[in-house]
Amino acid sequence: MKDLVYLSFSNNQLTHEIPQCLWDLQYLDTVDLENNFLSGGIPSSKSSLSQLTSLHLSKNKLSGELPPSMKSCTGLITLDLGENKFSGRIPKWIGENLTSLMFLILRSNMFQGNIPPQLSLLSELQVLDLSQNNLSGKIPESFGNFSAMAIVNKTKEFIYSDMQFGHLESIWVLWKGSQYEYSSTISLVININLSGNDLHGEIPEGITHLFGLQSLNLSRNRLTGTIPEDINNLQRIESLDLSWNQLSGAIPHSFSYLTFLSHLNLSHNNFLGRIPSSNQLDTINDSSIYMGNPLLCGPPLLNQCPRDEIFPDSQPLSDGDREAKDELEIQLFLICMGPGFVVGFWVVCGILLFKRSWRVAYYSFFDDMGDRLYVVVARKLAKFKKNKGLQGNRGLSSTPKHVLHPRALPDHKSS
Ligand SMILES: *[C@@H]1O[C@H](CO)[C@@H](O)[C@H](O)[C@H]1NC(C)=O
Ligand SMILES: *[C@@H]1O[C@H](CO)[C@@H](O)[C@H](O)[C@H]1NC(C)=O
Ligand SMILES: *[C@@H]1O[C@H](CO)[C@@H](O)[C@H](O)[C@H]1NC(C)=O
Ligand SMILES: *[C@@H]1O[C@H](CO)[C@@H](O)[C@H](O)[C@H]1NC(C)=O
Repeated sequence: MKDLVYLSFSNNQLTHEIPQCLWDLQYLDTVDLENNFLSGGIPSSKSSLSQLTSLHLSKNKLSGELPPSMKSCTGLITLDLGENKFSGRIPKWIGENLTSLMFLILRSNMFQGNIPPQLSLLSELQVLDLSQNNLSGKIPESFGNFSAMAIVNKTKEFIYSDMQFGHLESIWVLWKGSQYEYSSTISLVININLSGNDLHGEIPEGITHLFGLQSLNLSRNRLTGTIPEDINNLQRIESLDLSWNQLSGAIPHSFSYLTFLSHLNLSHNNFLGRIPSSNQLDTINDSSIYMGNPLLCGPPLLNQCPRDEIFPDSQPLSDGDREAKDELEIQLFLICMGPGFVVGFWVVCGILLFKRSWRVAYYSFFDDMGDRLYVVVARKLAKFKKNKGLQGNRGLSSTPKHVLHPRALPDHKSS
């Protein structure tokens, strides 16, 4: 079958090695052997495999290093080798040669050594899953350069089409704590997962340039330093897991502005200070996401912050700073009150003072009001007295004139 384009034996019980002759099928576009019991390595090929766009070998027992002959797979869009036993270093040539890659999944293998900074040359890359390996070193500074991950609104241009993949492409993505299979919406997923390795050093500042990122999982490493202050640039982030590291410092207030964030985990680090309370963070009301940080305080943790009632901000200020702040508040109050008083006073009194007709109307209104009130009270009083025991005495049924102020009575009522 020299002209074979699409080959799928996924979800079977195939054993033994992948035959070398597979690579003789030079028009192969898709090879899907996912979820079998295949062992051995990926056979190296002698011919060019530039037609291949999709290689799924995940969930097998494959081992060994990736053969350098894979450099010729320059058309690869999906490389999914997750949940095998591949070892060695992650080759530099993945970044240098496989320049069409959108989905790179090496999850749950035995890769070790540093993460090659060259990966950031993959300008189409949207899903990078290197989790649960034995990778060490730092997260490359160049990770801020994944240009496809910096695109915020892909919805219109990048909806999956048969034209793009030639078949129904699908991958498994781990986020928000579970695995999801994406197929028709796959090209909208933007995700980095480096969890479960041995990475150290700081979270590179550049990561905050990946504006389109929806999920970032750096948990279970040995990362130190603080959360980048610009984390609020990640406006699309829905899931952020930094648990089980050695991160420190305060939780930045800017977290409150990440309006898509629905899954956060900062547990088991060395964060300190008050948990910012506002907007988005209040919607994730789960204390387990902060546990294992002995120096964190404030709700939803039971740990009270010192000087809680006096000073409700997260960064504790010195006494001098607080005095200065109080003084400033009083000054601001006075500054605002002055103009308020002047405006309020002169709008009412100024008009009365300068406009005669309004003044007359104003005072006669209150005069009139007083008179009416007087009449009403007097009438009620008279009625009350009448009912109280003078029944039959018709003479008292009319309004008693003597209790009324003469000026108060309009003519027609005096009868
Ligand atoms: C991880 O890598 C270190 C060397 O970098 C090695 O000593 C260790 O045995 C590896 N662990 C596993 C589980 O492969
Ligand atoms: C990121 O890319 C720019 C240009 O595209 C380059 O100048 C810069 O050196 C890269 N940064 C890293 C850390 O590789
Ligand atoms: C992050 O990765 C770890 C280990 O790989 C996993 O246990 C955890 O559920 C992941 N977090 C999220 C939010 O998916
Ligand atoms: C956060 O991570 C910790 C430790 O991995 C886990 O026990 C807890 O359930 C997680 N919380 C959420 C909300 O996922």
